[in-house]
Amino acid sequence: MATSTQNAPHLSVLADEVIALLAPRPGGVYCDGTLGAGGHTARILEASAPSGRVIGCDRDEMALAIAKERLGSAADRVTFVHGSFEDVDKHLHGLGIESVDGLLLDLGVSSMQLDLRERGFSFMQEGPIDMRMDPSQGETALELIDRLTERELMIILRDYGEERFSKRIAERLKADVREDKLRTTLDLADAVSACIPAKLKQKSRIHPATRTFQGLRIAVNRELAQLEHFLSIFDKLLSPGGRCAIISFHSLEDRMVKRCFRDLAKTSNLPPDLARQAGERVDPICTPLTRKPILATEEEIQINARSRSAKLRACQKFAA
Ligand SMILES: C[S@@+](CC[C@H](N)C(=O)[O-])C[C@H]1O[C@@H](n2cnc3c(N)ncnc32)[C@H](O)[C@@H]1O
Repeated sequence: MATSTQNAPHLSVLADEVIALLAPRPGGVYCDGTLGAGGHTARILEASAPSGRVIGCDRDEMALAIAKERLGSAADRVTFVHGSFEDVDKHLHGLGIESVDGLLLDLGVSSMQLDLRERGFSFMQEGPIDMRMDPSQGETALELIDRLTERELMIILRDYGEERFSKRIAERLKADVREDKLRTTLDLADAVSACIPAKLKQKSRIHPATRTFQGLRIAVNRELAQLEHFLSIFDKLLSPGGRCAIISFHSLEDRMVKRCFRDLAKTSNLPPDLARQAGERVDPICTPLTRKPILATEEEIQINARSRSAKLRACQKFAA
C-alpha cells in the first residue's frame, strides 16, 4: 500500500484502490469523513494537486492533531473538522459547501486508538473500559455494560460482536460489574476468556475477547446508526459525477453499504409517465463503481493484517 511507511501511526487500507475509484482531480473538493492519521487524505491531496481541497473530519481530536502534523505543508489544503460523519451535511453547509466531488469513509478504529491503553480499545493492554472514539462525550463501555440488561448485552455481543457465547459472557459481565470486579480492559478480557471453552481457544486464530470488544465498541460509538444516517444523506451532498467510497470491516456494515448503493441505482419498472404519477424514480441517482467489494491483495495483508477483513465499495452520482 502506497502510504505505508515504517513510522506511520496507521497504515491506510486499500489506498491505491480508493484513489483509483475516487479519481481526485485538481480543483476538486473532497470530504474524508474518517480522517484518522490522514493517510487517505494525503493521497487525495497528492492526486488533486495543486488545487484540490479536503474537508477532513474525525470524532477523535487526537486523530485531527496527528493528521495535521503528518500532512505537513499539504495541510494548507485541508479543513479539519471535529465531529461525526453522521453530521457531514451540517459540517459542509457550515463551511459554505453545498456539494463535493468525492466522499470517503474508512470505518472502524485506527491503530493509534488501539495502541493507546488509556482509550480502552485493546484487550492486550491494561486501561479503563472506555472505547469511546470521542472521549469528550457519551458513555464508556463500562457504563454501557452497567446500564444494559443481561439480555440487551447478550444481543449486542451476539449481533455486533458475532459472538457465539454471548449469553454466557453477558451473564458473567453483569455479575462482575455488580461485584465491582470489572475495572480494566484486562479484567474484561479475562472474564470473557473464562466463558469460552478451552478447546476452542486453542484452535482459534483470534484472541477470545476479540468479538466481545468489537461488539461493545460498535455499541458505544453507535457505529451502525451513524453509518445508516450517512447512507441516507450522502447522495445529496455529491456534485453531479461525484463519487463515494466506503471501506468497511464488519459484515453488517458492508451489507448496509451494498444495499444502499444498489437502491440508489434502482428505477421504477413502470413506464416513465406512470412512474412519475406514482412518485417512483424514473432516473437512477447513482451507479455502482464496484460490482463486488474490492479486497486487499495477499501482499497488502502481509504488510497490514488489518486489511484482511476490509471491503471497499464505491458509487458515482449521475451527471444530472
Ligand atoms: C480506520 S481510521 C481512518 C484511517 C485513515 N483513513 C487513514 O488513512 O489514516 C478510522 C477513523 O475514523 C474515525 N471515526 C470513526 N467513526 C467516525 C464517525 N462516525 N465520524 C467521524 N470519525 C469517525 C475514528 O476516530 C478513526 O480516527
